[in-house]
Amino acid sequence: MIKHTRSKDGVLRLRPRHGSGAALVLAAVVLLFSGQVYAQGSSDDAIWADFIAWFKSAAAPPAGNPPLGAYAAKLAKDGLSEEEAGRRIALIVKLFGEKPEAIEAHYDRVFSRPASGDPLKDGFASVPSAFLIESVKALRPGAALDVGTGQGRNAVWLATRGWAVTAVDWSAVGLEKGRLLAEHQAVKVDWVLADLREWEPPERAFDLAIILYLQPPADLRALVWRKAAGAVADGGRLIVIGHDAANLTEGWGGPPHRGFLYTPEEVAQAVEAELEVVRAERVLRPVETDEGPRHAVDNIVVAVRR
Ligand SMILES: C[S@@+](CC[C@H](N)C(=O)[O-])C[C@H]1O[C@@H](n2cnc3c(N)ncnc32)[C@H](O)[C@@H]1O
Repeated sequence: MIKHTRSKDGVLRLRPRHGSGAALVLAAVVLLFSGQVYAQGSSDDAIWADFIAWFKSAAAPPAGNPPLGAYAAKLAKDGLSEEEAGRRIALIVKLFGEKPEAIEAHYDRVFSRPASGDPLKDGFASVPSAFLIESVKALRPGAALDVGTGQGRNAVWLATRGWAVTAVDWSAVGLEKGRLLAEHQAVKVDWVLADLREWEPPERAFDLAIILYLQPPADLRALVWRKAAGAVADGGRLIVIGHDAANLTEGWGGPPHRGFLYTPEEVAQAVEAELEVVRAERVLRPVETDEGPRHAVDNIVVAVRR
């Protein structure tokens, strides 16, 4: 069973709870890290194809990132032994970090939840990051770039503050939600549908580049941090905010695998050849849950081009 929680920041959290699905996921992660999972041949391709087909065809977007609890429940219903289901889940965890279409499919499904464009009703879809608000409130508006904009909550908020915003993502569903939100707020954003692996931003063109909660595998993260750093104009700044590695053991919600998490030091290291890092730290984000107030461990890196 998966639990949904929403933080004060508006970020939707998905967390496995106790139950057969969660137990299978745990078993799978143990298998994965004990090296007993190996990807080979067409049977692994078939396992992956079955997972993606199930994921894309589910009537409601499955919860979780990746949605392993619900898929484990489906495998159990299909009559698979606990051992085989665990092996398959572990394989999927591994491939989820390697196959770009998994992340794309995931966000297209997540973002397909209905939205009204009204921030009060749409929560995560529309409420900007409190950390971002705090980090840019003293800046004079100029040209801004939002990398991995999702449903455009931060891009639209920046536009309402007078920034001329370009927002990039490969989820057409997410961008459509952003367009709706911008319309609702009567602002304009330049929406760009692109895969960040191939996308090349104009060099030194933006007074502000932001990347929030972009948590793909390490190689893509570092690539995107560097591309965004290159897009920062003289006197401009890069702000990267995301789920910290420490969240896995000390925080609430967020991606449940270390491979999708990072540290402020990793961001700083990736961009310091280009920009001067002026802030790199862990921060706690309050989260309201059914079990009472908790916190998530995020990180913030701010780097400037002098
Ligand atoms: C957790 S969401 C964060 C969205 C937004 N920054 C926010 O804070 O609300 C991560 C976003 O990164 C996007 N993303 C991940 N990998 C991508 C890629 N290779 N190309 C383009 N977008 C990607 C996803 O589609 C998703 O919208």
